[in-house]
Amino acid sequence: MKGVILISGSGSNLQSIIDNAEEIDLDIQAVISNKEDAYGLKRAQDANIPTHTLNHTQFSTREAFDQQLSQIIDQYNPGIIILAGFMRILTAEFTQKYLGKMLNIHPSLLPKFTGLNTHQRALDAGESEHGVSIHFVTDELDGGAIIAQSHVQVLKNDTAKSLSKRVLIEEHKLFPKVIHCFTQGRLSLKDNRAILDGQCL
Ligand code: GRF
Repeated sequence: MKGVILISGSGSNLQSIIDNAEEIDLDIQAVISNKEDAYGLKRAQDANIPTHTLNHTQFSTREAFDQQLSQIIDQYNPGIIILAGFMRILTAEFTQKYLGKMLNIHPSLLPKFTGLNTHQRALDAGESEHGVSIHFVTDELDGGAIIAQSHVQVLKNDTAKSLSKRVLIEEHKLFPKVIHCFTQGRLSLKDNRAILDGQCL
């Protein structure tokens, strides 16, 4: 299945997807970043994947940015759009257009800790468990139907950094697996619920 991947930063999730692309039947058509200095762009170039940079600061409105983003995505006619550390809030029009085929990874056990600084917030809240969620993207920030989660135990002396490292290891394992379910046609969104093999998740 053809896919486009959106990033904003280091792209370690992108790397794990690139490394597993063949196995998970994903044909990565392009990587798009809203940040010119995102290290993920280099990872894509090293893998001979076309890249685009769309600097959001050069757009006067969110709508204008999303429209341009959409134009780039549509050139590739992807069956899946993967948000792998893409740190932009998307307009309702954009999320609606790609509803059911856009997936995001979020470093918390949703619905806990939507938004930023999830690791520190989990520590501050005294959580004994933390983790990662993969969900369909809707216009509600980090609020779409949850597809899969991996749990990570919070250790006594954890800092946001140490915790994020262990969560990231789980992210790299979980995301390719979920993408594979989607490319195999086993995963879909129905009535705002994630369905895997005909079963509601
Ligand atoms: C990951 O923790 C992801 O869950 C979050 O942003 C981080 C991106 O890391 N949305 P990377 O760019 O994939 O290394």
